Amino acid sequence: MPMKLPFFRSKKEAQPIQAEELTNVPEHVAIIMDGNGRWAKQRGLPRIAGHKAGMDVVKETVELAIKYKINVLTLFAFSTENWSRPKHEVEYLLRLPKEFLHIYLPDLIKNNVRIETIGDFDSLPNYTKEAVQYAKEKTKNNDGLLLNFALNYGSRKEILSAIKSIMKDFDDEKFSVEQVDENLLSQYLYTHDLQDPDLLIRTSGEQRLSNFLLWQLAYTEFWFTDILWPDFNEEIFVEALMDYQNRSRRFGGI
Ligand code: IPE
Ligand code: IPE
Ligand code: MG
Repeated sequence: MPMKLPFFRSKKEAQPIQAEELTNVPEHVAIIMDGNGRWAKQRGLPRIAGHKAGMDVVKETVELAIKYKINVLTLFAFSTENWSRPKHEVEYLLRLPKEFLHIYLPDLIKNNVRIETIGDFDSLPNYTKEAVQYAKEKTKNNDGLLLNFALNYGSRKEILSAIKSIMKDFDDEKFSVEQVDENLLSQYLYTHDLQDPDLLIRTSGEQRLSNFLLWQLAYTEFWFTDILWPDFNEEIFVEALMDYQNRSRRFGGI
């Protein structure tokens, strides 16, 4: 990818930022990639043209995550509520993972990226499941960036299904009521083997979670930008990382 450095600390201070200079890098970055439809509309294009452009930005963002030494990148790609969109748009969105992997999987493998998903995987169409399962299998031994797609993901559904599984296991006498704590509940979520996100980015100017990682974002730093997802780039990403540098995370302490 072409390098777009230098970036500057502020308009007054004309000093470029290097990846090594970021001392406080978030280990896990989660992104709500929003604004594809509006991006397309601004150009008089169909909404799916925005999703296509957004797909290429996903690849660029993966490269940025590697460059800036992020460990985990979780991308909200399709929500449980997105099924309510017109049928052709839903189908297009659910075919995108296959197209994305068809084009970019060899590169992701070369870059030591491991692919995972969170969400209700079983309810996805076969063409999505097969492509994603193949990619998971192919990358399962990679130990570089963990690229985690939230696919058919909804936080309330996740918590509900965790509660149901906990109740079943309780019935099977696997534990007592006293043993049900935050740690146990976390183990029943899709994210059971993941650290919580340190930084959440949402593009397109909306300032809401839209049912994304409600439990896991309890102490995450939020960063919002008006930029629409297909326009997301290194400069914006660095802006978010720079802002994160100065956040004081107290976790309820002083
Ligand atoms: C984000 O862009 C992609 C998905 C939600 C799948 P949108 O499609 O929500 O774009 P806007 O919000 O309508 O502009
Ligand atoms: C959130 O965006 C879901 C994804 C980015 C996949 P939406 O566009 O679906 O969210 P709302 O409807 O504006 O809250
Ligand atoms: Mg949207």
